[in-house]
Amino acid sequence: MVVHNGIFENYLDLKRELADEGHIFNSQTDAECIPHLIESYMNNGCSLEEATRAAASRIDGANAVVVLSRKEPDKIVSFKLGNAGGIVIGYGESEMLLASDIAALLPHVRTVAYLAVGEMATVTRKRVQYTRIDGSAVKKSTARVSYGALTATKGEYKHFMLKEIHEQPDAVLDTLRITLPDFPFSDDRIRSFNRAIIIGMGTSLHAGMVGRMWIESLAGLACEVDNSSEFRYRDAVLDENTLVISISQSGETADTLGAMDLAKSRGARQLTLCNYEGTQSTRVADGVLPIRAGLEISVAGTKTFVCSLVTLYALAAYLGVKRGYLSEERLANIVQELLHLPEMIGQLLSDQSQYERLALKYGRRANFLFLGRGKNYPLAMEGALKLKEISYIHAEGYPAGEMKHGPISLIDRKMPVVALVPQDDLYEKMLSNVNEVKARRGSVVAVAAEGDKHISEKADEVIWIPKASANITPILNAIPMQLLAYYIAVERGCDVDQPRNLAKSVTVE
Ligand code: F6R
Repeated sequence: MVVHNGIFENYLDLKRELADEGHIFNSQTDAECIPHLIESYMNNGCSLEEATRAAASRIDGANAVVVLSRKEPDKIVSFKLGNAGGIVIGYGESEMLLASDIAALLPHVRTVAYLAVGEMATVTRKRVQYTRIDGSAVKKSTARVSYGALTATKGEYKHFMLKEIHEQPDAVLDTLRITLPDFPFSDDRIRSFNRAIIIGMGTSLHAGMVGRMWIESLAGLACEVDNSSEFRYRDAVLDENTLVISISQSGETADTLGAMDLAKSRGARQLTLCNYEGTQSTRVADGVLPIRAGLEISVAGTKTFVCSLVTLYALAAYLGVKRGYLSEERLANIVQELLHLPEMIGQLLSDQSQYERLALKYGRRANFLFLGRGKNYPLAMEGALKLKEISYIHAEGYPAGEMKHGPISLIDRKMPVVALVPQDDLYEKMLSNVNEVKARRGSVVAVAAEGDKHISEKADEVIWIPKASANITPILNAIPMQLLAYYIAVERGCDVDQPRNLAKSVTVE
């Protein structure tokens, strides 16, 4: 019996060979070829472990595989080829467990180990033996997970997503406790960087887009941001003076791991932001910045997004100080405001009746537009992503300046526009975008700072956020984006925690 995640690229050749040997196939899948291949070695006298090793060495592509056989029922053999599918091994009292994701193991174990690319594990009830697929020994260290089974339950909440949204004040506090003692680069090295590149996918990419602006403005370091799946296949120019910062809450996203491999092969220095110690990305990077969000079960990322933002903000300030770009005084102001962040997020979570009302009013619309500028443009992207992934409403996030270059033709009475209108340097420009939408009879839901009188005269609805600096505002704006999507999805009767076609860890390309 085989559990398989990945793509077995050369399976057609092997299938032909096995069919010639007399193996009978019942499907067109590549997965079915694996048990036949293992069986063929076992028929020739190999043990389950030997047969699996031999089979693994003939499989091309990125694959994670778990194997059981009736002939050796006390054993599970597993291997990982390339970046496809996590395999986590849990160490119980009198049992060993295997899963693709840590959340599945939490009701049973606290100590885990991750299989790395090219490794194999032979698991019995009492022990596990790690080797490389070529047979050489592997020394594996385990990680202790600090959260338990209780974290993996919804408690008083209807959905994990809502629970995780509510956990954000505590998660941010935990993230703020990070010190950077293991920062892998010397001060000289930090000063030698002439460019940073942030990579990630989906929600993590959106966090990176904000991070880029902090790194430029607080650390004076030129910074680009790219989608990992694009970065890994372009001919990126990198060297030892390039700092690549990857963001992956799961640490197992295939495209981000692929991009990190490329960066490594071209000599760039790497930091990674990750929520889980011991995962693949944490082993590739030179240094790890833990985002400390705690276990996130809902497929839609919420607290991992906010904690990634907080970590990036702290990182930008740290780089700024080390590079002599950020004064002690500005740093003190940043720290002071960050300490108030959990409280401000708590305030945003205190009354959610407005979102229920907005969900009733707009939840049946077919399309949504999200607009923002500067550091809030990525938040518009994130708002649109959250909405489309859990409520299946088509939504687009745009930098508001792009409106006139196309999207404005979409605006009519049926189009709700969520406009992020903080009182920063771009406030007047956002106000004129709101006017443009209203002039075309679109409905505007504005997200604005408390006390802003102009916006309440213009917008149909206003979601108020606490007054804060232009740097902190994008973090606060994440909360209305999450709650709006959540309540609309609930109103539409969608499966909030498990949206269709999506997985929490995207371990294949
Ligand atoms: C959306 C979401 C995804 C992930 C993306 C990257 O809510 O969560 O877009 O952000 O799949 O995942 P990680 O951060 O694990 O690399």
